[in-house]
Amino acid sequence: HPSAVFNQCVETVEYLKIKVPEALVRPRVAVVCGSGLGGLVGCLDEGGLRWEGKYEELPNWPLSTVPGHEGKLIFGTMGRQQVPVVLLVGRAHFYEGHEMSTVTYATRVCRLLGVQTMILTNAAGGLNPDYAVGDIVCLNDHLNLAGLVGFHPLRGPNAEDFGTRFPPLSDAYDISLRQLAHKSWRDLRADAPSRRRMHEGVYAFVAGPSYETRAECRMLRSFGADVVGMSTVPEIIVARHSDMRVLAFSLVTNNAVLEPTVRADEPELQGMSRDELDAYLSKGRANHEEVLESGRQAAVDMQGLVLRIVSEL
Ligand code: 6GU
Repeated sequence: HPSAVFNQCVETVEYLKIKVPEALVRPRVAVVCGSGLGGLVGCLDEGGLRWEGKYEELPNWPLSTVPGHEGKLIFGTMGRQQVPVVLLVGRAHFYEGHEMSTVTYATRVCRLLGVQTMILTNAAGGLNPDYAVGDIVCLNDHLNLAGLVGFHPLRGPNAEDFGTRFPPLSDAYDISLRQLAHKSWRDLRADAPSRRRMHEGVYAFVAGPSYETRAECRMLRSFGADVVGMSTVPEIIVARHSDMRVLAFSLVTNNAVLEPTVRADEPELQGMSRDELDAYLSKGRANHEEVLESGRQAAVDMQGLVLRIVSEL
């Protein structure tokens, strides 16, 4: 018996097969653009064959509700060898109230389109004190915090049409793709020097939508996380379940606050006005505007990186 999600995905794929030009409809690579990283559209061949569809046009496709997260699917070609790719601008998040099956729907459609490699990007908070705002982190592992307490994308009857019941995740982040990422980053740096660095690190997936408290940030750091965010891990798991190769990047858009919780009886605070107290406390606090702005600046480097990687796949 095909699973319900399989049948829904087939419906979407059938629609795409009618609409998308023959030369583009079997992409080898999918690129998911995170918050403020819609600029990755610049990776596509200028003037090449292209097809764009808004998410609301696609049957069964989940709609995003976050400002700054537009929703469209773009089929095009990338790099010297004109690799057919599909770009997903905007994704469904768990914190919006979507089911995990909805959050990972696009990943499964990619699988049925024949995508072999998923490149996922996101905006994340930096927990590793060595990271600076604007740095890029190539993920090599994750903490699926929501999943560990029951919100797992593979919970429920196994979708046999996609993969097995107990998929291993110990080497989910493809090591040769990561090697290619390092090489591509070195090449990019040689052509266009900047202070931005690329690291490898562990991503902590939290359900959101609030940013973390100071105590939560310290907990995540002590658990071994380097960055924290509210996306990507469900998609990674579903991609691995159906045996796609995955590569994921976080853009550090702000530093999570690791400093100790401020005690109201701290001598330094005594006699401060309410405004002075607010200024003292807001140091390093995450804010949605800051997240979007550092995305715009770093998107250019992320674009160069993804383009080089896809060119050498
Ligand atoms: Cl600090 N936390 C979470 N959960 N998501 C983020 C973030 C922080 N910064 C960007 N996205």
